[in-house]
This record gives sequence, C-alpha cells and structure tokens, in this order.
Amino acid sequence: MSPDNRFRVAIVLSLFLPVFADVPHCSNGFREEAAKKINITSCRKQSLGAEFAWNYNNGTRRLEILFGAKLHGDMGWLAWGLNPGKHAGMVGTQALIGIKLSNGTSSHDTYSITDSTKLGCKLLPSKIDLEVGDFSFSFPEAEFAVIQATIVLPREYNDSSTNVVWQVGNVAAEKQPFMHPKNIWHLSCKETINLISGSVRGDGAHKLQKLRKVHGILNIVGWGSFLPVGAIIARYFRRFPVEWSQWFRLHVSCQILGYLLGTSGWIIGLWLGNASKYYGYHTHRVLGIIIFTFTTLQMFALRLKPKRNDDYRVYWNMYHHFLGYSLLAIISVNIFHGISILNADHTWKWAYIGLLCLLGSIAVVLEIYTWIKFWKRESPGIHKTQDQDQKDLQRGNKNDSGASTASHS
Ligand code: HEM
Ligand SMILES: *[C@@H]1O[C@H](CO)[C@@H](O)[C@H](O)[C@H]1NC(C)=O
Ligand SMILES: *[C@@H]1O[C@H](CO)[C@@H](O)[C@H](O)[C@H]1NC(C)=O
Ligand SMILES: *[C@@H]1O[C@H](CO)[C@@H](O)[C@H](O)[C@H]1NC(C)=O
Ligand SMILES: *[C@@H]1O[C@H](CO)[C@@H](O)[C@H](O)[C@H]1NC(C)=O
Repeated sequence: MSPDNRFRVAIVLSLFLPVFADVPHCSNGFREEAAKKINITSCRKQSLGAEFAWNYNNGTRRLEILFGAKLHGDMGWLAWGLNPGKHAGMVGTQALIGIKLSNGTSSHDTYSITDSTKLGCKLLPSKIDLEVGDFSFSFPEAEFAVIQATIVLPREYNDSSTNVVWQVGNVAAEKQPFMHPKNIWHLSCKETINLISGSVRGDGAHKLQKLRKVHGILNIVGWGSFLPVGAIIARYFRRFPVEWSQWFRLHVSCQILGYLLGTSGWIIGLWLGNASKYYGYHTHRVLGIIIFTFTTLQMFALRLKPKRNDDYRVYWNMYHHFLGYSLLAIISVNIFHGISILNADHTWKWAYIGLLCLLGSIAVVLEIYTWIKFWKRESPGIHKTQDQDQKDLQRGNKNDSGASTASHS
C-alpha cells in the first residue's frame, strides 16, 4: 500500500472506529449534576437521548438512581423501571413515572406495566414490588426532566444482569400516561445492565442507535449516491451527447466504491436485524437482500461481459441496463423505507429528496441535451441518402464534436 493509500484507509477507519469502540459515557453536564446527589458507580447514555447514573451497593442491595431525558413540548411523561423477567421488555416492568401537564403541574408515582397496558388499557398508578424511597421528579432545565429514587433491590432481581427499561411519551392526562411513539428509538429503550460493574449485556441501546445511523449513511452514500452517479456517467459520457475517454474507468470506480460501501452498510443491517429480533422490518429486509443479490450480479457483469463485437453483446447490454435501472428504483424505495423506520428527524428525508432531485435534474438536463443534439443531426437527414446517414452516424459515434453535423446544413 502506498503511503497515500494508507493515509486514506486510516481516515476511513478513524471515522468508523468511534462507533464500534463506543463507550457511551454521560454528558459532562449530567454527570456533574448527578455527582452532587449520588456517589456514581456508573453513568451511561441511552437511547432517546436519556442519561442514567446510579450508585449500587451489592452488600445492602441499595440502588440509587438518577434518570434524565428531554421532554418535548410542555406536556409529557418520563418512565424508568426494572423488569424482573428473563428479557428486558415493556411488559412486566415495575416503573417509576413522572408526568408533566401543560398547565405546569407535574406528578410522579409507581406503575406496574402489564400485558393489558400493551393492549391499550388505562395505565394508572399502582403498588409495585420494589421498595421505593426518596422518589422525586424535577426539571433542572426547561425541557429536561429527571427522576430520582432509591430502591432496595429484591432478591428476584439479579444485580449482575438487571433489566432496565425506560420510555418517554408526549401525551398524558393527570396521572395517566398515554401511548408513547412506536418508532424504533422508542422500541429499543431497554438494556440488561450489570449494576455492580456498569457493563451492559450484548449491545447497549445507545450503540445500536449509532449503528443504525451508520447503516443508513453507508447505504445512502453507497447504493443511493455512487451507483446512480455511475449510471449517469455510463449513459451520457460514453459516446453521446458527450464523449469522454475516461468514462469507463470512472463508471467502474463509482460502481465498485458504491458496492463496497453499500455492502458494508447491508452487513451492518443484517446484524442490526438480528439484534432486534422482537420487531422485524420485513419489507425493508427483503428489499435489502434483493438489492444486494442483484447488485452483486451486476458486479459480475464486469468479468462476464461478452466481447465488443459478440452477437450477444446487444442483449447483454439490454439486460445490464434494465437490471441497473430497476435496481436504482428499488434502492430509492428501500432508502425511503429505511428513513421512515429510523424516523430520525425529517432532515434525513429531505436530504435524500434533495439528492434525488439533484441527480434527477442532472439526468434530465443531459437527456434534453442528448435529444437536441440528436435532432440537430437528424433534421438535415431528409436531403441525405441512407449511405450518408450511415457515415454520419459512424463519425458521430467516434467523434461527436458537432462540427461534422454543422457542415451538412
Ligand atoms: C402508556 C401506556 C402504554 C402503552 C399503551 C404502550 C404500548 C406499547 C405497545 C403497543 C408496544 C409494542 C409496539 C410494537 O411492538 O410495535 C410497546 C412497546 C414498548 N413499550 Fe410501551 N406502552 C405504554 C407505556 C410504556 C411505558 C411506561 C414504558 C416504560 C417503562 C414502555 C416501554 C416500552 C418498550 C421498551 C417497548 C419496546 C418493546 C418491548 O420491549 O416490549 N411502554 N408499548
Ligand atoms: C459519597 O461517599 C462518601 C464516602 O463514603 C460520603 O462521605 C459522601 O457523603 C457520599 N456522597 C453522596 C452524595 O452520597
Ligand atoms: C460485591 O462485589 C464485589 C466485587 O465485584 C465482590 O467481591 C463481593 O463479593 C460482592 N459482595 C456481595 C455481598 O455480593
Ligand atoms: C445472574 O446473572 C448472571 C449472568 O449475568 C448469572 O451467571 C447468574 O447465575 C445469575 N444469578 C441468579 C441468581 O440468577
Ligand atoms: C392542571 O390540570 C390538572 C388536570 O387537568 C388539574 O387537576 C390541576 O388542578 C391543574 N392545575 C392548575 C394549577 O391549574
């Protein structure tokens, strides 16, 4: 590897390493505030921008927690709880919930979340099987809410693998929190934590959140940008309307780079799908597999392409182009699908729409240019013999400078 290439590889790696080697420490602000109230055993960032600090004494099984997250708007609720079951999940969670109402009042209480909550029954305060003391719900900043409490961990809860579940909702009435949003960020608010060491079983919600974004960006850049740019180069710079000797090299580079980035995004996607078994995104997955399979086939095209003057070349070209354009369509459908799952914020959707418009208008301009050039060359054709036409076309193919057509008129 040349020093230049090594440098490039180092840059690419340094962009992605922080994601894989991610230790989701709390923000300094939250840690400082928490340290005033408890002796922190550990503090971590979680999904939905939540932060969780705790102190745990494995002798007395006393657990002090401080859990904060942003509430959007002047109404909302914040929940934090432990689940004694085998897996972290909503049903079975013994929760502490703080509610903020739009008239500025707030309340906090304990709630037991059951199957019927999930089915839509009212969620109202009830006794839970945790001994809770010093429970408070406060707003250190306008939109940032914090739950603080002390719990004595019962024996049924394993302190080296404790299921922690949290949630943020936007609507509530008095003491009743209403259904939270159901996008992927809200469905991944659960972790199995070792309270003694602070480590997390499997991958923390925060890391999954980051990987999902990496997955999205790699796919948008790989499948969504390089492949269509490569297609535009092949369509408009091969011979007509513009002939450019470097087109093939650039076309192949774009497709290979797009394929590599897209494939790494796809592999992360498979892995993510595996990590969130409890909610499948079937269509997104199937389209992803189709895209990977057929772009792989297109890549083989590089090696299996018939020779230039082979009889099959025409059919081969038709096949390669047809598959290529269909893939571009499926890719953009799946990118929109993925963005709607992430539902990150609308910037992703608009950024991608912007990209499509840009590529689309470049293609339209080049297409119009193609036709104008084509007509200019064809219009004097009425006076020409077929023979001349043939020559013209050959010349046009080789060197389409425009001068050759002008000489006829
Ligand atoms: C206010 C009433 C609530 C209703 C009606 C409700 C409803 C639901 C529904 C229907 C799902 C499944 C969505 C799907 O699979 O597509 C779900 C998932 C989830 N909910 Fe709730 N929920 C409520 C409150 C809460 C609270 C208070 C928490 C946190 C303590 C919470 C945490 C979760 C989590 C972590 C999931 C992800 C799936 C799982 O692990 O079980 N929910 N909720
Ligand atoms: C932290 O621990 C020290 C020593 O055990 C104790 O003196 C101090 O009060 C504790 N601080 C808080 C905030 O609990
Ligand atoms: C508490 O944790 C420490 C270190 O992990 C361990 O050595 C000790 O035995 C534990 N104590 C109890 C009562 O479990
Ligand atoms: C607690 O979880 C650990 C693994 O995280 C396991 O080895 C241990 O057996 C569990 N203890 C109990 C009492 O279930
Ligand atoms: C705020 O609204 C709640 C329920 O809608 C009501 O019970 C409470 O009295 C109101 N508080 C004030 C200060 O208006």
